[in-house]
Amino acid sequence: CSFGTKSEFAGLAGAIAAIVYNNEEGEVHGTLGTPSDNHVATFGISDAEAAPIIKKLEKSKTVDAIAYIDAEVKTTMTDNIVAQTTEGDPNNCVMLGGHSDSVPAGPGINDDGSGSMTLLEIATQLTKFSVNNCVRFAWWAAEEEGLLGSDYYASTLPEEENQKIRLFMDYDMLGSPNFAYQIYNATNEANPTGSQELRDLYVDWYESQGLNYSFIPFDGRSDYDGFIRAGIPAGGIATGAEGVKTKDEEKMYGGKAGDWYDPCYHQLCDDVSNVNMTAWELNSKLVAHSVATYAVSFKGFPK
Ligand code: PHE
Ligand code: ZN
Ligand code: ZN
Ligand code: ZN
Repeated sequence: CSFGTKSEFAGLAGAIAAIVYNNEEGEVHGTLGTPSDNHVATFGISDAEAAPIIKKLEKSKTVDAIAYIDAEVKTTMTDNIVAQTTEGDPNNCVMLGGHSDSVPAGPGINDDGSGSMTLLEIATQLTKFSVNNCVRFAWWAAEEEGLLGSDYYASTLPEEENQKIRLFMDYDMLGSPNFAYQIYNATNEANPTGSQELRDLYVDWYESQGLNYSFIPFDGRSDYDGFIRAGIPAGGIATGAEGVKTKDEEKMYGGKAGDWYDPCYHQLCDDVSNVNMTAWELNSKLVAHSVATYAVSFKGFPK
């Protein structure tokens, strides 16, 4: 069997999937995700079935990836959707994206129907305004299979196209039921790409609304990863996935300490009832603010 790359991705077509670590004699055909990435269960077995196996394998500490054996693999093609304003300087674009796929376990309404809808609404509203800089929207494919769509896009941009994207803003999970207002802690020290300006824009806005916010690691767990690696400034906001809300955060945001930010993360129950509309609407306004700011000007933003 073989695993697809770039915008292709591999999915199990057969019913049986065995997961093994490469410490056994078992032949490893390929790897998909890591135990921490929550993606192993999406290929043929359920989370509940996978959990004890993963636990045992993690303890063995001899391997760093999970592979499937004895599985029929089929390659599927999937598409990014990219749309750009007809107006605005085409050599200076602000880009924003969310992912249009979900994990097979569920419909993915908070993850990431929430971001996808925000982008759609803003694209619609933007038609009433004119822009100085071009605005480019992306609905990424196959984020859940390893950021495949966005990575393919960012890594295959010709140099002159790369230079036109001044900034990428990532919007993945904007209405978690047990939300926190999270800002990717993108700093110019860690990533000398100018994304600290965007981080500060989010900070200033939450403060202007009298709201609390938290920084979360800018560790590559969403579609900005390919942009950073292509040297394009990036940042974004989120409201939390499988992380556990702290007591402090309960005071800051309400909700329930000790529970996941999104108790339905990567599950069947991530349906239309799984979005906190207060958080989603508020964050959508912030997304609109981020678009409006950079559509007007990149003044003061690093070249
Ligand atoms: N990208 C992750 C997913 O789609 C969720 C996530 C978003 C994790 C932001 C951390 C930070 O499953
Ligand atoms: Zn997800
Ligand atoms: Zn997501
Ligand atoms: Zn993911």
